Amino acid sequence: MDPNISTLRQKLADAGQSHLLQFWNELSPEEQAELTQELEGMDFQEINGFFKNAMQTSNSSKQGKMDCRMEPVPREVLGSVTRDRESVKDWELTGLQCISKNKVAVLLLAGGQGTRLGVSYPKGMYDIGLPSHKTLFQIQAERILKLQQLVEQSHKTKCCIPWYIMTSGRTMKSTKDFFSKHNYFGLDKNSVVFFQQGMLPAMDYNCKIILESKGKPSMAPDGNGGLYRALGNQGILDDMERRGIESIHVYCVDNILVKVADPAFVGFCVQKGADCGAKVVEKTNPTEAVGVVCKVDGRYQVVEYSEITLATAEKRSADGRLMFNAANMANHFFSFSFLRDIVQKYEPQLQHHVAQKKIPYVDAQGQLIKPEKPNGIKMEKFVFDIFQFAKTFVVYEVLREDEFSPLKNADTQDGKDTPTTARHALMSLHHRWVLNAGGHFIDENGRRVPAIPRDGAAGSVTDDGKRNLKDGTDLPIKCEISPLVSYGGEGLEELVKGKEFQPTLTIDKEGVHQLVKNGV
Ligand code: UD1
Repeated sequence: MDPNISTLRQKLADAGQSHLLQFWNELSPEEQAELTQELEGMDFQEINGFFKNAMQTSNSSKQGKMDCRMEPVPREVLGSVTRDRESVKDWELTGLQCISKNKVAVLLLAGGQGTRLGVSYPKGMYDIGLPSHKTLFQIQAERILKLQQLVEQSHKTKCCIPWYIMTSGRTMKSTKDFFSKHNYFGLDKNSVVFFQQGMLPAMDYNCKIILESKGKPSMAPDGNGGLYRALGNQGILDDMERRGIESIHVYCVDNILVKVADPAFVGFCVQKGADCGAKVVEKTNPTEAVGVVCKVDGRYQVVEYSEITLATAEKRSADGRLMFNAANMANHFFSFSFLRDIVQKYEPQLQHHVAQKKIPYVDAQGQLIKPEKPNGIKMEKFVFDIFQFAKTFVVYEVLREDEFSPLKNADTQDGKDTPTTARHALMSLHHRWVLNAGGHFIDENGRRVPAIPRDGAAGSVTDDGKRNLKDGTDLPIKCEISPLVSYGGEGLEELVKGKEFQPTLTIDKEGVHQLVKNGV
């Protein structure tokens, strides 16, 4: 027998995972080589330890009543674009100043598998169906480019916002190929840095790693909190240090309205001397699938939608709003020194969360079984689990219609967080930008379309957070403005002021294009 395989057999036996080689003799030499390589890269004692701790935490959090330990975010750590309107300009100036000194980086979490959306490729490559057919990656890249240009113009200095992109074993190659094929969407290739998070096996309830085929364990990315381990072991922290980065805006791939490197958010956090900050929108529907930022046992935390009871989610304050209404948009601010402390000191203290899943597996006879009820767990760390270590934590509240419309699910009639709702949210925002800049829309009869839509029109949102799509009148004005023209609604007056447009209106670097054609 190959000496390597006997060492591996022993290692597996010591960890109670010998079943992983049960079909060894049925595998081809190539399959055997692949399986050996995969198993040799795993630390089984560590994985077993993760399982034990994760199950323990999950059982004790089920028993302990989270409800009575939760407190809402106190007013003094909260900044708001509506309530603190007079300060926003100042925060923005601070943020722009930091960007001009090349101290701000953005970090995209793009290692997820897009299971709910049902695509086999990275979500960032998804075409939302805009007139331009831009993907989420392209929209984000162009916002970075535009922000760099705005800062270069205002501060008369060359600047660069490095873009760190976390992928996983499942998304790395296709993501890199996509960027290279599109020439990095005009960004400097050296300022787009890809790195890869870790993977963990799915386990059954007896701590056995699940085989998805005879020669392959079932593997999944280790959660977006896998970020911290990857930052250390992929040399990303060192790269940030070399570039002199002091502030990092971390965000999720799926929000079409994301203000990448948002100067106001960065400036707010910097002015408050925060090492850690979270951007939130108001949660209005108790069952919306968002985490809420709050305190648990006096420490800041996000309680996920899967972890909160309905009774707590439905609690209301005296003003009638939800008591836990700080919906996590998955947009976070970290100072570099905080991030370094996390990676170097605190990461091992982060616990994995347990997700019970229906995991396809091969049984002892080698048959592939697709279970109908959960048969095992996936373990994930969450990106926000480090809030508890912050010395100065702040929360920044923005308007949902301006900044938050995530793409989670495939299109269905009146579905939530779908390509249609994301597309409509972007077009509604751009419609408002045109109106704010003094432009007008007219219908096919030449009549002005009212600025304030009728009830249910312009992609309005129903009580349960879904977009209204029941008849044609509910469709938003079809209007798309390239991020290369405007980052946040600025610079449009000279293009639209006093003018009338018929949808579809598109504004890009080449100019203003108005297709005289209706329907979305
Ligand atoms: C996430 C937030 C939730 C928030 C919601 C807003 C987490 C854990 N939860 O929920 O609090 O209210 O967004 O839309 O952040 N990802 C990785 N690696 C992984 C898993 C995920 O990079 O192993 C990335 C995904 O590519 C995505 C992001 O993390 O960009 C969020 O993942 P997703 O599964 O969509 O999170 P939600 O459950 O929607």
